[in-house]
Amino acid sequence: MKTKTLKFLALVIVLSLFGSIQAQNDYAYIGNKKCKKCHIKQFKAWQKTKMANVFELLKAGQRAEAKKKAGLDPEKDYTKDKECLGCHTTGYGKKGGFVDEKTTPNLLGVGCEMCHGAGSEYTKKEYMSLKNKKFKRADVVKVGLVSPVGEKNCTEVCHNKKSPFYKPFSFDERKDQGTHKHFKLKYEH
Ligand code: HEC
Ligand code: HEC
Ligand code: HEC
Repeated sequence: MKTKTLKFLALVIVLSLFGSIQAQNDYAYIGNKKCKKCHIKQFKAWQKTKMANVFELLKAGQRAEAKKKAGLDPEKDYTKDKECLGCHTTGYGKKGGFVDEKTTPNLLGVGCEMCHGAGSEYTKKEYMSLKNKKFKRADVVKVGLVSPVGEKNCTEVCHNKKSPFYKPFSFDERKDQGTHKHFKLKYEH
């Protein structure tokens, strides 16, 4: 009886852990245009950054010298290459994520959700919305928002040795070049 109960409890724990992992991976990417609606200043600043435009680097003829040095073919079009898209687009291979240039033009390059997390859930009315401007950050983070973004977010996903062009990365040095200008939030979260 006792071992039966223990086994049952273990099963419940395993299933609920599995459930929460599933849920975490379940948020879908919705694209920059959705964020732009409420965050026009960040959007405009982001558009000018390197991060917004890294998809272009995959095209033939772009950065020919650097590609040669890294052992890549400068004349090749890498815009459909699985080996590159994970870091040069937003949410590639994930729910709602980048598919190709035509189908998902709002997920080219390192977009909002590449740093801030897939937005399908945290942009719902009861979380981050104009009706709920004073949301608690902790609540929104629970459903997928990444804020604040830090060094680990960058190095885990892209700025690591899987990149053919890896360079040592310091978040503090690069934050202002790479992300977007920062504006003070109106409310405490
Ligand atoms: C319907 C409007 C709306 C949409 C759409 C929206 N946001 Fe927000 N967001 C807000 C509001 C309101 C705040 C709080 C603003 C303030 O305090 O000044 C906010 C705050 C934030 C913050 C700061 C949160 C904190 O406390 O750390 C981040 C980051 C953010 N949004 C990212 C995004 C991203 C990425 C998207 C798209 C996936 C998005 N938002 C879509 C309304 C929106
Ligand atoms: C693990 C993530 C990752 C993968 C995979 C990846 N890249 Fe990148 N790529 C980066 C990062 C990060 C940088 C910027 C490096 C830096 O400045 O620190 C970069 C930079 C570049 C640059 C600019 C290099 C320069 O010095 O001007 C080119 C071109 C490029 N990548 C092409 C590719 C191609 C082609 C592939 C696939 C064969 C690829 N990348 C795969 C992350 C990645
Ligand atoms: C390359 C990563 C990166 C991308 C892409 C990115 N952000 Fe951010 N974002 C950050 C960082 C870093 C912060 C500052 C976090 C902090 O406060 O420490 C930030 C902060 C914010 C904030 C809080 C207020 C502010 O201005 O600092 C909002 C809102 C926001 N981002 C929205 C967006 C939206 C909308 C997009 C897409 C148009 C976007 N971000 C794209 C990294 C990114």
